[in-house]
Amino acid sequence: MKAIRIHEKGAIDNVKIEDLPKPDIQSNQVLIKVKACGINPVDWKSTVYGYFEMPYTIGTDISGTIEAIGTDVTDFKVGDNVIGSLEWAKQGACAEYVATEIKFLALKPKNLSFEEAAAVPLAALTAWQGLFDKLHVQTGQKVLIQAAAGGVGLFAVQFAKWKGAQVVGIASAKNEAFLKSVGVDSIIDYKTADFSKITPDFDAVFDSMASSEHTIPLLKKGGKYVTITAKPSEDLVQKHDVTATHFLFHSNAEQLKTIVNLIEQNHVKVFIDKQFKLTEAKDALKYQHEGRSRGKNVLVVS
Ligand SMILES: NC(=O)c1ccc[n+]([C@@H]2O[C@H](COP(=O)([O-])OP(=O)(O)OC[C@H]3O[C@@H](n4cnc5c(N)ncnc54)[C@H](OP(=O)(O)O)[C@@H]3O)[C@@H](O)[C@H]2O)c1
Repeated sequence: MKAIRIHEKGAIDNVKIEDLPKPDIQSNQVLIKVKACGINPVDWKSTVYGYFEMPYTIGTDISGTIEAIGTDVTDFKVGDNVIGSLEWAKQGACAEYVATEIKFLALKPKNLSFEEAAAVPLAALTAWQGLFDKLHVQTGQKVLIQAAAGGVGLFAVQFAKWKGAQVVGIASAKNEAFLKSVGVDSIIDYKTADFSKITPDFDAVFDSMASSEHTIPLLKKGGKYVTITAKPSEDLVQKHDVTATHFLFHSNAEQLKTIVNLIEQNHVKVFIDKQFKLTEAKDALKYQHEGRSRGKNVLVVS
């Protein structure tokens, strides 16, 4: 089978397409014929900075069809269409076949294509965990979401609106009309805004761009800040009397099933910016690296 592999960190150009044997499955695993693989910033970051043990097949997010099941698997059957974010330490999504434990999987949303479905797991789970496990966003709260038009941001704004929050997104002006069509109440244009002039009346901030110097001062006293990139300084957190958390997403099938339900009930849409072929993986990683995506990018595998 074809797989996108990296043997040496340092550059996106180090990734190669290679032939590997089709994986064997253990009794608690399933074999998935991968249809599409979602691209996330971690995919280019790990090739450049070397987060994982080399060599490995890049990628965490897949959609595909179960082709074989281990003897202990009862929750899924051959022919099921599934999505999932694979075991973090092993990666392995950008390949024609994947062997994985079922604890990372949910049934694919019936109303999405395989390409759209592959875009869901990591970004949507990150948005969910940030909003609800860390910020505990409630109906009626005023929430600020950084990089609102990006992969994580677009899920976060839709989940927060579904919860009944008032949502302000930080984005550039080119995304304003689009974000309002998705439900965002208003935007702050990060390219022109004077953050020091904005009223500090937010209950919660979801930061994906290391913007704590700008966004923590916008919280009410006692407000909550979560970041998925760099941690804020303790001085800043104390000065504004807020709580601050940093976290790394984790794959969670139960949360993914809840997200699938919201998608099937049309509460949440999936936005694909660009699709690439498996053979164009380097182009996909380079495009993701530019950091200008509106929504998600995917590799079409089969
Ligand atoms: N800790 C975790 O578990 C975790 C999980 C997922 C992601 N992350 C990290 O979170 C970050 C965001 O991920 P993502 O998938 O959402 O990325 P992404 O899809 O690449 O984000 C692209 C968006 O970012 C916006 N943007 C770029 N620079 C900006 C700035 N200075 N201020 C505001 N918006 C800006 C762009 O808007 P414009 O085109 O308008 O500039 C674009 O819409 C990445 O660094 C990623 O590694 C961490």
